[in-house]
This record gives sequence, C-alpha cells and structure tokens, in this order.
Amino acid sequence: MRLTRSFGTTMASSLAVCRLHMKGRGSLVKYLRKVDSYLHRTIGTNVVSAQEREGCKSLYAVQAERQEQAERSVLISCHTRTNEKKFLKYLSMHGDINKYFFYESYGMYAVVEFANRESLASLFEEAAIPIVSHESMVPFKSRLLSLRNLGSADPPNQQSGQRCQSQTTIPINELIQRLSKEGSIDQQMTSLTDVYQLTEENSRLRFLVCSLLKDIAAAYFPECTIKPFGSSVNGFGKLGCDLDMFLDLDGISGRNAKMPKSGFLLEYQMKQTNSERAVTQSILSVIGDCVDQFGPGCVGVQKILNARCPLVRFAHQPSGFQCDLTANNRVAMKSTELLYLYGELDPRVRHLVFTVRCWARAHAITSSIPGAWITNFSLTVMVLFFLQRRSPSVIPTLDHLRDLAGPADKSFIEGNDCTFVSDFGKIHLQSNPETLERLLCEFFEFYATFPFNKMSISIRQGKELNKPEVAPLHIQNPFETTLNVSKNVNATQLDRFVALCKESSWLLQQTETSKARGGNVEKAPAPWGLASLLVPLQVAVTKGRKKRRPEPASERIKSLLASLKNPNQQKKS
Ligand code: GTP
Ligand code: MG
Repeated sequence: MRLTRSFGTTMASSLAVCRLHMKGRGSLVKYLRKVDSYLHRTIGTNVVSAQEREGCKSLYAVQAERQEQAERSVLISCHTRTNEKKFLKYLSMHGDINKYFFYESYGMYAVVEFANRESLASLFEEAAIPIVSHESMVPFKSRLLSLRNLGSADPPNQQSGQRCQSQTTIPINELIQRLSKEGSIDQQMTSLTDVYQLTEENSRLRFLVCSLLKDIAAAYFPECTIKPFGSSVNGFGKLGCDLDMFLDLDGISGRNAKMPKSGFLLEYQMKQTNSERAVTQSILSVIGDCVDQFGPGCVGVQKILNARCPLVRFAHQPSGFQCDLTANNRVAMKSTELLYLYGELDPRVRHLVFTVRCWARAHAITSSIPGAWITNFSLTVMVLFFLQRRSPSVIPTLDHLRDLAGPADKSFIEGNDCTFVSDFGKIHLQSNPETLERLLCEFFEFYATFPFNKMSISIRQGKELNKPEVAPLHIQNPFETTLNVSKNVNATQLDRFVALCKESSWLLQQTETSKARGGNVEKAPAPWGLASLLVPLQVAVTKGRKKRRPEPASERIKSLLASLKNPNQQKKS
C-alpha cells in the first residue's frame, strides 16, 4: 500500500495525494537532523570513527522513544478548511501539545501529540458518540476521532487552514528529470535517498497506527505491544512501503520468567497446546476478527494463517498504510535490527540500498505482488554482501558483529543464534575510500558475473559458500542459516536480474567515458548516470548468463547514449 502517489497498486487511484504538515519543537527532529548532517558529512570520506558511531541510537532506543510518543497521540479526521489556530486552541484546552501535523488521505487528518497522557483522558471525556440515523455502530472507542465544526466554516478564500506539505514519492519520470540535473552520480544517489526515504512525519504515523492497533489487541492481551519492523524502521523504507507489525506477547508468554525470591512461586494457569504455531494462528485469528469487526478505519482484512509466517493483512484507511500483522516473528525483528545497524554504520550503505531498490523496482525486478521475484529484503542482503566483499570491506560480517557482542547482546531464538553487538562504538570499520559511483558500478559488475549456479550468498561469513541445495538464487538467511531467503526466485527472474546488471554496468561505463554531466544550467537535461539506469530498458536474457553483449540492448539506449554525447540533438529529436 502506498500512502502517497506510489500508492499505486492497492488503493492507488482513489487516494488523493497525501500531504503532511508538521509543526513543533522537539529533540527528536533535532536528533534526526544531527544524524542526517553527520551522514552527509561522511559520504565519500568513510572516516566514521567509532566514537562518532557511539552517538547512534540503537533501533531499540529509537523504537521505545517513538512508541511512547505514539501513546500520547491522537489521529483526528478534520475538514480541509479547519482553521489551524482555532483547532489548536481547542485541543490545547486539554493540555500542552508537543507536536502536530496534517496530512491528506481519503480526507484531511491531523496527528496531535500531547505532552502528557492525562490530556487524552480529558479529551475523551469531552468526545461524543456520533449520532447516525440509518446505520448501526460498533461501540468501540479509540484514539481515531473526527472533528465536527459546529460553527460556520471559514470561507475558502479566507481560510487560515492548515498548510500541508506533500509527502508523496515523486513519479519515476520526475525523479529521472531531477537526478539528471545533479552534477555527479554520487549526488544523484544521495538525492534519490532524500526524495524516497520515509519522512519524520510518516515514521510517526507508522508508530501511531501500531499504537492504535495495540489498543484493539489489548482487548484480549492488555500487556501486549505492537511494534513496527521491516522497512518501516530498518532505515531502508521508501515512502509508501507497507507497515509490517509484530504483536509482541513476550511479557505474557513466559519468556521473561521471573526467578522465585522465596520458597513459593505463584504461576498463572494457562491453557496448553501442542504447537507454538497453532497458538500464533489462533491469536492472530481472534485479533484479525477484532480488527475486522471493531477496528475503525481497518478494511479488507484477510487472515493468511497458513503461510510460513502467519499474518493478518488489511488496509488502514486513515493512514493509507497496507498493514501486515504477525506474531511470534522475533527473527524478523532481529533481521530488522541488523539491517538498521548496517545502515547506520556507513552512509554509503543506505544510499546504495536505496539506489538498487529503486533501480530494481523501475525494471520490475521487484514487485509489491508476491511471486517469483526477488524481494526487497533479498536485494538488501545482496547489497550488504557486496559491500562486505569489497577490499577493504565497507561493512563487517555478521560473524564479526557476533564476536563483538557483550553478554547483554546474547540472543537465541528458536535455537538460532541471533547474537550481535548492539554498541555501535565497539565496531571499527576498515578504511574504504570508494565513492558511491564506484560502488554502484562495481555492484552491477559483481552480480553480472557472480557464479549463481554454484554459489550461495552469506552475509554471516561474508563470503560465497557452496550452494547447499538446488535453487536458482541462494541467499543464506542470516539467522536461520539452513534457510534460503530467496527460495521463491525462479531462473527467469534471476536471469533478468543478471541481464539488467550487465546492461546497467555497461551504461554506467558509457557515462563515465562520455563524461556527460547534467549540471544545473540546462532546464531538462537528458537522463545520464543513475537517471539513465531508471529509464525502462529492454534486455535480452542470454542463456547461461555468460555472454556479455558488446552492443546496447535496444534502440532506446542507443539514442540515449547519443543524447549523452550531444544533448542538443536529443532536444531536436
Ligand atoms: P518492503 O516492504 O518491500 O519495503 O521491504 P521489507 O524489508 O519491509 O520487506 P518485507 O515487508 O517483505 O518483510 C519485512 C521484514 O521481514 C524484512 O525486513 C525482514 O526483516 C523480514 N523478512 C522478509 N522476508 C524474509 C525472509 O525471507 N526471511 C527472513 N528471515 N526474514 C524475512
Ligand atoms: Mg515491508
């Protein structure tokens, strides 16, 4: 699901452009800006000292902070012409407001974060039950509210209503144009990340939706929490990506069992079953029913309980997020933490992952529909592996991160060793000075010639391993090492990936030799560098993936290359 224009596949056409506007002070914004400027400072230099990394927060700390903020927040549907000042004055009667922002998704919404939780109680005391004459209502109260304007609305020309800031990902054509104006491929890659990454507001909204869902699940499990995982929090999320959620029952399920202090121990009596999977399925089944029948704004609920990882899928209309709710999925939480850590270690990791993800999507190597395609998760692992294989390596292996772990980092999940260091300060990187341009070029070259037929990719060991089983693409699951995360990928999809890597490597080399640069002077410079890689390519898949074609695949590329050499000719044509 896309919150933005790239909403595309699911709610796409019917969803108005999503806009967000955010106000307020707050240390988190400052903190994120600090991180951002730190990331930009270090691009290309690769001198990220261990001390500097010490300042990075662990994903756990970031999540705890955001969860707490979300619990003090409400989501309010309001009229597009709601007067912002009056709206805030009205809400402030219940307590100080820390932050607020407006966005559009099937109407106008405001996210309001109060300074104290008590303000919510005061707000709820005043909130009324809606009166509807023709329909019945499910009497479930939540922090999703509607603001009715009982007075006269401000006339349209005088409106002092909310200023909204667009939060959409720009369409690919616009992105290509924008990138073509940059002065280097390195700048193109950082610009792409800036445009596509989740915004502060979008991230807050994701935590708020989890918090709203938690209120529903709490009807059965009052001590549960619902945490986002996957690209919503791993640092690689693109605006519009789905919201993966994890129903955490660890507080109840005995994993945090206490040691007896005296000769007695009181235990809860709990129903016993013979399979943990069956428990997960039944929990998700009842929560799925709850969400379906009582969850305001939750539509299209599907219970997909027989999947390897059972889940409940639905659309949360007020936010526009496509949601996947899972339970007992702690290995995925660990994978998320690991990806986040790698992304924080060196800014080039995020830029390269964003670029490769965007490139893959532009050429339909990845898809939002499940199938035989490479997933974003697999693709990310491939980028990490490539960065481990550089000499000197850009990032360390997972085994190395495990060796650096302290006693508090120990983690075993269902017999799998998921231990790795959480203290960023302990990680010393090798000094690799490669530019983003060079890494991108080498990435394509690396996978254009990778021996996929024999070898498996392992970020745990940071080296190719012999394939343990027959599969076109074998990527070892970092924590469940006997599993292949790309088991779904068929030979055709892998061949397309390899062919596109060849083509893209070739195209980038042409850019290098022609030294074509967009610069800022021209209004609409021809696509070059990364921008040219996002233009749809027609690649012929070569059997055996050994032959390297000397010529570009299509007429389109030929004319593109001609235009790189002579931009004026392109304009005429
Ligand atoms: P997008 O949703 O495509 O933006 O990326 P994502 O990283 O969120 O991927 P996805 O929604 O498919 O999966 C969510 C998370 O589940 C991933 O980030 C991983 O942590 C985990 N995950 C996904 N696929 C696999 C898999 O095949 N094996 C394992 N172990 N974890 C997976
Ligand atoms: Mg996801």
